Amino acid sequence: MKILLMGPPGAGKGSQAEKIVNEYQLTNISTGEMFRESYNNQEPIGIEAMKFIEKGNLVSDEITNEVVRLRLLKKDAARCFLLDGYPRTVTQAVALDIMLNEMNSKLSAVINIVVDHEIILERMVGRRVCRSCGATYHVEFKPTQKKDVCDACGGTLYQRNDDKPESVKNRLNIYQNKTMPIIEYYRGRGILHEVNGMQTFNEVYKDIQNILGEPV
Ligand code: AP5
Ligand code: MG
Ligand code: ZN
Repeated sequence: MKILLMGPPGAGKGSQAEKIVNEYQLTNISTGEMFRESYNNQEPIGIEAMKFIEKGNLVSDEITNEVVRLRLLKKDAARCFLLDGYPRTVTQAVALDIMLNEMNSKLSAVINIVVDHEIILERMVGRRVCRSCGATYHVEFKPTQKKDVCDACGGTLYQRNDDKPESVKNRLNIYQNKTMPIIEYYRGRGILHEVNGMQTFNEVYKDIQNILGEPV
């Protein structure tokens, strides 16, 4: 099973990915997470990427494609993976096709989580992320038991740098201009599924499960 999870910033890709990869035993590949982790480790790629991320701009196709290419070559990605947040431009979608072709592989499904812009803003402002394990929460919609402490690992929660209103607006613009065209690219191939992201976590997950079938 090789799945792409698409949708605007704040659609709930990361939240759904956490559950899907567990239930379906997939390798979770999130380019955003990889960049943030690399930045936390103060690696050159992460430091370079954060200059773009903070302002809500995309990291270059060149860097992003290379990061994904190296990740897909690792053993745990050979059979099953879920890509969250990649591809984000037509150039990246074409590059992914080439990589998969070389691996004699292809995508099983592309799932697009659809959410209106007003709801996105409210989700971003309240989002909190665990510094240790990356689990995602929301002050109102998914609060932790103890304030600012991760339920899963006891780590401290923080607010992402790019969740400031100016960065969010820029991310939404870029999503519309650069990422939306890919949806048509996949629709044309008949592997695109759309899910209403403006439901509860469980309802969204259930719709995704209906598309993927019961986990084996
Ligand atoms: P990335 O980390 O991928 O950010 P994004 O796409 O903007 O998406 P988010 O992670 O913000 O949102 P999400 O859809 O995962 O929502 P979440 O589950 O957290 O990328 C960050 C940056 O890295 C990019 O801007 C770019 O600079 C760079 N980058 C990454 N990939 C790149 C690429 N391929 N090319 C170039 N640059 C790249 O949910 C959001 C909030 O809502 C949470 O608080 C959650 O608890 C809550 N929530 C979720 N679902 C629900 C629900 N159903 N009901 C109520 N609340 C909900
Ligand atoms: Mg995410
Ligand atoms: Zn944690």
